[in-house]
Amino acid sequence: MEVSPSLLAADFLNLRKEVEMINDSHADYLHLDVMDGVFVPNISFGFSVLDAVGKICSKPMDVHLMIVEPDKWVAQVRDCGAYLMNVHVESCKHLHSTIQHIHQAGMKAGVTLNPSTPVVMLNDIIQDLDLVLLMSVNPGFGGQPFIRHTLEKTRRLRRLIEESGSHAKIQIDGGVNDRTGAELAEAGADILVAGSYVFGSSNPHERIDILKNL
Ligand code: DX5
Ligand code: ZN
Repeated sequence: MEVSPSLLAADFLNLRKEVEMINDSHADYLHLDVMDGVFVPNISFGFSVLDAVGKICSKPMDVHLMIVEPDKWVAQVRDCGAYLMNVHVESCKHLHSTIQHIHQAGMKAGVTLNPSTPVVMLNDIIQDLDLVLLMSVNPGFGGQPFIRHTLEKTRRLRRLIEESGSHAKIQIDGGVNDRTGAELAEAGADILVAGSYVFGSSNPHERIDILKNL
């Protein structure tokens, strides 16, 4: 299992320390949640924070954009040092074109589905994707309970990926802990995002290792 700790749950007064803790851990990526207060009912952080984190982060940065019109910001996300740019299907009018722009900018491309958005929305784009993120909570806030329907959705997505011959990885975000993570591993997830489970612990390295061993 791969693990992408979500910086949203970190101590923002000690961001350098938190990023260095992730650098020293067995995490595979660092997950960064950008929110605009329009697409989701919350505002997190923007490019100045991404840029600062990018200067000290030794893990590939996985940037989850919960914003309207993400296509406008491809170059800025790339310039912050992102490895992967992840956009919501619900916020892209021309998803195919946005995926092309992300690839042309030299990043991996991911697409996120909200809990109520069906997997079939990806039928005609799955082969172009490097990653699909299934939201297992409604986006906007950390610390929410896992929506159990995500397990069935993960299985359905795994079937679509196998049938289409896509190389896309399956990432799950929201309410991930050792218990939900074990069920997600069985359902076919490749990458677990975890915010409060990792940063809310006095031993975040141990929590990352627990998820990695699922
Ligand atoms: C929520 C964000 C998540 C969030 C997860 O909109 O996309 O990445 O940080 O937090 P936990 O793991 O606490 O549910
Ligand atoms: Zn996220």
